[in-house]
Amino acid sequence: MKIVMVGSGYVGLVSGACFADFGHEVVCVDKMESKITALKQGEIPIFEPGLADLVRSNAEAGRLSFTADLAGPVSQADAVFIAVGTPSRRGDGFADLSYVYAAAREIAHALDGYTVIVTKSTVPVGTGDEVERIIRELRPDAEFEVVSNPEFLREGAAIEDFKRPDRIVIGTEELRAQAVMADVYRPLYLNSAPILNISRRTAELTKYAANAFLATKITFINEMADLCEQVGANVQDVARGMGLDNRIGGKFLHAGPGYGGSCFPKDTLALIKTAQDYGTPSRIVETVASVNDQRKRAMAKKVVAACGGSVRGKTIAVLGLTFKPNTDDMRDAPSLAIVTALQDGGAIIRAFDPEGMEQAKAMLPSEVTYCKDAYECVEGADAAVIVTEWNIFRALDFDRIKAAMVTPILADLRNVYRAEQIRGKGFTYVDIGRGVMAPDVGIRADVA
Ligand code: UDX
Repeated sequence: MKIVMVGSGYVGLVSGACFADFGHEVVCVDKMESKITALKQGEIPIFEPGLADLVRSNAEAGRLSFTADLAGPVSQADAVFIAVGTPSRRGDGFADLSYVYAAAREIAHALDGYTVIVTKSTVPVGTGDEVERIIRELRPDAEFEVVSNPEFLREGAAIEDFKRPDRIVIGTEELRAQAVMADVYRPLYLNSAPILNISRRTAELTKYAANAFLATKITFINEMADLCEQVGANVQDVARGMGLDNRIGGKFLHAGPGYGGSCFPKDTLALIKTAQDYGTPSRIVETVASVNDQRKRAMAKKVVAACGGSVRGKTIAVLGLTFKPNTDDMRDAPSLAIVTALQDGGAIIRAFDPEGMEQAKAMLPSEVTYCKDAYECVEGADAAVIVTEWNIFRALDFDRIKAAMVTPILADLRNVYRAEQIRGKGFTYVDIGRGVMAPDVGIRADVA
């Protein structure tokens, strides 16, 4: 089939390359000429494992191409995906849909023959209706259907998630459009990924509900971690004990510094706004968003406590900046709040991240010293903090680390290590939700 992907960012590029790998003929469109030029030269503007090879092999096979011209490809397309950005609008948290609507207008003018227009971007409930109205107004003659097809891709695992999805959600009740979408996803369907044909608004809400629920699950285990620290329980074992119940499941129960990224923070806020607008406020999601914001800041307090109550004039080594491993994405990363709070407390920050430092430089205060690896980062540090659980932080040489530091203090905000392993090396070690009560005095051994 002929597919056009409008928007060659994180979602559009991954989706376009994967559709091409299914055998479809895909044209990725983007307004940014520089991005198109780079893509034509095989340069990928985002860090996503496996994407460069996937793009290159499909471009070489002639199934995947890039252009800034939208009209030409759309006039030939069976399906046109809108995969443009829907950032949170500054201030009120609503999703900014101006790029979606601009794409809809451009697509309208170029339609020729029956075409399925698919909103792939995460859009508030009812956006598909507005896209349909815009196109119908401009082209009352055109034969088209607007379908919602939300993505459930995790950064760093996007290709895997696209090719082996738990489900494919198709939001339309028009049989002809359902048939086109079944053809688009046939290779997956043959892999027995269930296709869910539901209404457009239902599909739009499903995406928000799924992300908000995952954010809730993470925030729940983070709160259990705080309780574990007080009662002397181990949150990882609590998560295991919960997760073995197949009604709960073990995923997304890893306690940490709070969720970040380009989706959970934005999507929870958009859902909160929609629910408030329709007079059915979601107090659970409102609380999740608020608790998560506070948690990121609270993590700095954990570091300050480990340093004896003050970090003024102390050098803190921050290991990991991105919101999760295997991405270069710094959007809403917990490190942003943690570094800022530590600097507010007078700390001097050294930082290392294998992929995120370029983006971080534009988002963090300029006084941060960026290092080439973990060992350079801890040189002369009074304390170190693991903020992102990159694999390269999982087997550090702590004898070498200790020798490089002024004082051997480690705050492990991702529970990468076992406490006894690090304390055995002479470190003061703080973690998340694995506090050990000192049996006789009722306070935690590591802060005694
Ligand atoms: C998420 C959804 O998983 C995906 O389905 C949706 O399409 C886009 O948003 P993503 O934001 O890329 O994907 O990353 P994800 O792996 O979900 O992690 C989001 C945040 O939650 C990260 O900051 C991560 O560190 C945190 N997290 C995740 C936890 O703190 N604990 C967990 O157990 C899982």
